[in-house]
Amino acid sequence: MNRIELKVNGVRVQRDVEDNQRLIDFLREDMRLTGTKEGCSVGECGACTVILDGKAVCSCLLLAAQCDGAEVFTVESLRHDKVGQRLQTAFVRHGGVQCGFCTPGVLMSAKALLDKNPTPSDAQINEALEGNLCRCTGYVPIIKSIKAVLKSA
Ligand code: FES
Ligand code: FES
Repeated sequence: MNRIELKVNGVRVQRDVEDNQRLIDFLREDMRLTGTKEGCSVGECGACTVILDGKAVCSCLLLAAQCDGAEVFTVESLRHDKVGQRLQTAFVRHGGVQCGFCTPGVLMSAKALLDKNPTPSDAQINEALEGNLCRCTGYVPIIKSIKAVLKSA
């Protein structure tokens, strides 16, 4: 067991975690933040993407114990965030969400990008989405949604 202290969606939390408990399980099971999805479990699909200390990361590849002292944001945080709200609205409006399984991860990759670079080029948007697999949309509506947020900013 390890005692960890971290900030999750702006709230400071302290918890005891097992040595082998992954960040995704900590978020979904201990914190009841089930917006983060698990697809492949091996860092290939990006469904589990969260923002850790400002970077989009796969929460299936990290141990919760590694996140002691860190700040984590999950998709649930987007409703309290201006860019997050704009992203969600744009995804609905432009068809960036279809089955929705990849959407939490895609949104968090987009949010991490826009936090660092509010005016990304097409190439930078593509690069930010490299780790997120979507089987439904063909990516065009996802990119259109992100670009709509740039226009509305
Ligand atoms: S579940 Fe983490 S990358 Fe697929
Ligand atoms: S919307 Fe279905 S996998 Fe992306």
